Amino acid sequence: MFLTIAGNFKMNGALAGVQPYVETLKAAEIKAHLIICPPYPLLPAFAAALPKSIALGAQDCHARPSGAHTGDVSATLLKEIGASHVILGHSERRSDHGETNADVAAKVAAALAAGLIPIVCVGESESQRDAGEAEDAVKTQLRHSLPENFAGLIAYEPIWAIGTGRTPTAAEITAMHATIRAALAAQFPLTGPTTPILYGGSVKPENAAAILALPEVGGALAGGASLKAADFLAIAASAIAASAIAASAPTV
Ligand code: PGA
Repeated sequence: MFLTIAGNFKMNGALAGVQPYVETLKAAEIKAHLIICPPYPLLPAFAAALPKSIALGAQDCHARPSGAHTGDVSATLLKEIGASHVILGHSERRSDHGETNADVAAKVAAALAAGLIPIVCVGESESQRDAGEAEDAVKTQLRHSLPENFAGLIAYEPIWAIGTGRTPTAAEITAMHATIRAALAAQFPLTGPTTPILYGGSVKPENAAAILALPEVGGALAGGASLKAADFLAIAASAIAASAIAASAPTV
């Protein structure tokens, strides 16, 4: 099983950087499932440059297929220009744009209707973790951010770990991923047991191998570290090593 490594460029990147970035990725033997999520205007350039083996994702979409929504982009158009995935419910959209769980659920439904694979982000704030409410906060997000026909990926991203260089301990990641797995299995009996659960929040080449080796961690969503192709590739290399270890582990 290949792990998924998704790169969230956020509001970074430039047209001149697309070709060199893709050339660096293409030169490497990558056996992880890679998804590049650049800002909207760079999607067509990436769609033209990326090999078929590397997927393209957007960072948001509107809940409606078309209409009077200035500045927004529909899932249908994203699909048409070559995206296969879309990040939804990122904590920066929840905080910067006031997106609620219900908003996220409507966007996930729109993405699915357009044939896009959603990567739905959940994660607790620092005060929720300090208050011992992290697992309840994430379970609430899962319960209300996913429509009944959900199929896609989940990204667990503790807000306090995003862009801070801080990461949860291995035990904290393991506990939260187990909680998310149990919640998904209860909510979606058919798909929940196998829905990939990515970890995100200060993933970098130095910590990727340890994080990706944890149980129920199905890959990583990297922000800052995805901006340099070499760092993104180093994270992907850790994913390949983690997959190989999992594949060679004796089954009992
Ligand atoms: P980071 O961001 O890797 O820069 O912490 C992750 C994310 O927000 O997806």
